[in-house]
Formats: sequence, C-alpha cells, structure tokens
Amino acid sequence: MRIGILGLGRIGAFHAETLSGLDAVTSLVVADPVADAAKAAAERYGAEVADSPEALLAAGVDGLVIAAATDAHPALIRAGVAAGVPVFCEKPVARTIEEGVAVLDAVRESGVPIQIGFNRRFDAGFLAARAAVRAGELGRLHTVRSTTLDPAPPPAAYVAASGGIFRDCSVHDFDMIRWVTGREVTEVYAAGGNRGAAYIAEAGDADTTSAVLTLDDGTIAVVSNSRHNARGHDVRMELLGFADSLAVGLDDRLPIRSAEPGVTFPSGTPHDFFMDRFTDAYRAELTAFTEVVAGKRPSPCTIEEALEAGWIAEACTLSLREHRPVPLAEVRTG
Ligand SMILES: NC(=O)c1ccc[n+]([C@@H]2O[C@H](COP(=O)([O-])OP(=O)(O)OC[C@H]3O[C@@H](n4cnc5c(N)ncnc54)[C@H](O)[C@@H]3O)[C@@H](O)[C@H]2O)c1
Repeated sequence: MRIGILGLGRIGAFHAETLSGLDAVTSLVVADPVADAAKAAAERYGAEVADSPEALLAAGVDGLVIAAATDAHPALIRAGVAAGVPVFCEKPVARTIEEGVAVLDAVRESGVPIQIGFNRRFDAGFLAARAAVRAGELGRLHTVRSTTLDPAPPPAAYVAASGGIFRDCSVHDFDMIRWVTGREVTEVYAAGGNRGAAYIAEAGDADTTSAVLTLDDGTIAVVSNSRHNARGHDVRMELLGFADSLAVGLDDRLPIRSAEPGVTFPSGTPHDFFMDRFTDAYRAELTAFTEVVAGKRPSPCTIEEALEAGWIAEACTLSLREHRPVPLAEVRTG
C-alpha cells in the first residue's frame, strides 16, 4: 500500500523509517513546508515528495500519517477524511480541546477510520500491566504513579505549537492511566514549576509538573512530568494494589541510579529518548495502522478515546492556572 506522511520532523522522520521497513508498505509520499526535511526523507527512503498536503492527497494514497506540528493536526485530519483516506494522526488531536471536539464531528460525519498515536498502547510492558490489572492480579488498586521525563526540552517553536506540557506530554500518562486501569478520572489537582529553559516560561508553559488525579473508584494517580531529566528518557508506571505491586519501565535501562551502597541496578545504558524507548511500540502501532487501512481491524485508538485523555489535560491546565482542584465535569462539554 501507498502511505502519505505529512511532517518530517523528529517523529515524522522516525515514522518514515519504520513505515519503509513494513512489508505492507510499498511506497511513501512525503510533504513538509521545510523542503529540506521532505527531501532528506525522500532520499533516504525512496519516497516521492509532494509540494503540499493537497498535492500529496491528489497524488493518491491509501493511508495518511500526520506527524506535523500539533497546531496543524485539525486541518490535516479534515483534509484526509474529506478525501476518504484512513488517517493516523500523532497525539494530541489538537492544541485545544475545542479544536479537538470540532474535528471529531468532521471525522464522525466522514465515517473514515482514524487512529491517534498513543504508542504506549503497543508497548509490551504497558500491555502486560493492563492484563495484570484486568486479571485482578494486583487486587483492588489504591495508587498509580505515572512518570514521563524527557532528557531535554523541545525547541521553542515546538513548545509554542504544542498546547502546553499537559496536552503535549502528560497526555500519554493520562491515556495510559485510563487504558491500564479501565477507570475514569473524576478530579485533578496540578502544580507546575519553571526552573529550566527560560523560553518555556515565556511561552506561558511549565517545564516540570505534577498532577494528582482521583479515579472514579477512589484510586489516586500521581502523574510526574519534566522536560529536564539529564540521565535520559524515563517512562514508568507503578501500580500498587491491596494484593500486589507492579512496575512498567523498571528495566536495566531505567535512567536513574541507586543511592544504596552495593546496589548496581539499573546497570544498562539509560534510555536515551522516545525513539529508542518505544521503537518496538511504534512499529506495532504503524503495523496496526496498515491493518486499519486494509480494513482488517478497527482503529485501536479512536479519536473519541484520545479526546478522553484530552479532557484530563484540559482540567490540569485549568487547575495549574487557578491553583485549585478541578472536577472533570467542570471542563467537559460533551
Ligand atoms: N507519540 C509520540 O511518542 C510522539 C513523539 C514526538 C512527537 N509526537 C507528536 O508528533 C507531532 C510532531 O512532533 P515532532 O517532535 O516531530 O515535531 P517537529 O517540530 O520536530 O516536527 C514537526 C514537523 O511538522 C512540519 N509541519 C508543520 N506544519 C505542517 C503542515 N501543515 N504539513 C506538513 N508538515 C508540517 C514542520 O515543518 C516540522 O518539520 C506533535 O504533534 C507531537 O506531539 C508524538
């Protein structure tokens, strides 16, 4: 099948590499306003270059991968579904929940399948944690701790287009908390700090945040995020229940060192960044997308599911701004 890719930045170039290695994908067409980015991908993966998203769709593709900056997602999703082409779009759906809800209507009207890029749904550790929780191995949960720490902040232009750290980064944690536990978030209370890159504060964003989430069964989830984790990309989820405890991401490549004398764990090279932490998960999610395109399976992450995490991000953004707990019911409009 022929796949179009819009956006050839950090994740778009990585997706081009992954897609070019899939048996189901026979050719790629790419477009990016930065001509050199498209050209580099074209040379490396034998892709055709289109001058614009419209030209790419006119060139005829079976599936569309949107890996452009977040503020471009809604218009590109609309263009894809209007052309009747199944869409994979990176998270988050949009920079604001209002734009996300508006594009949801367009997707529903079109009837065209869309998959949102919550790659952790395809990670072996998160899959095993979900199965353990669903099988009752941990007993009733009382605490979930979810962590996403980046080694270095994204550039200023990325921050400006991202919608802020809760919608851009914590949204992965929010999606996993819902997906692993099967519970819904009822209230959030968020705090944030700015002790790192000055341009993040200047954009009105925080570089480090924590949020306490209350789930509908009373479980407490604590979400910790930072753009500054010098030792590497740290993605973990700890699930504590009345019968047992389990951790995702607790391997030899965990980017932290122990203060305990004689303890050598973790002993491996720390995870460097998302590309190396989730290589297999990205391959699995894009393989799933080729199956969606082929009509062999429904979308494994619908836009409705993605927007559920979006509401939590919205509530955390408001909570941080107003220094108060925010019930989800206060921000939800649908
Ligand atoms: N799932 C994940 O793990 C993950 C990881 C990184 C980024 N992302 C998401 O992927 C998206 C891109 O992130 P990135 O880190 O690659 O950003 P980036 O800034 O490195 O790249 C974005 C690219 O999009 C291009 N672009 C902007 N508008 C466009 C348009 N209308 N059509 C085509 N291309 C356009 C830019 O020129 C740039 O090359 C963001 O939405 C981000 O949230 C997801």
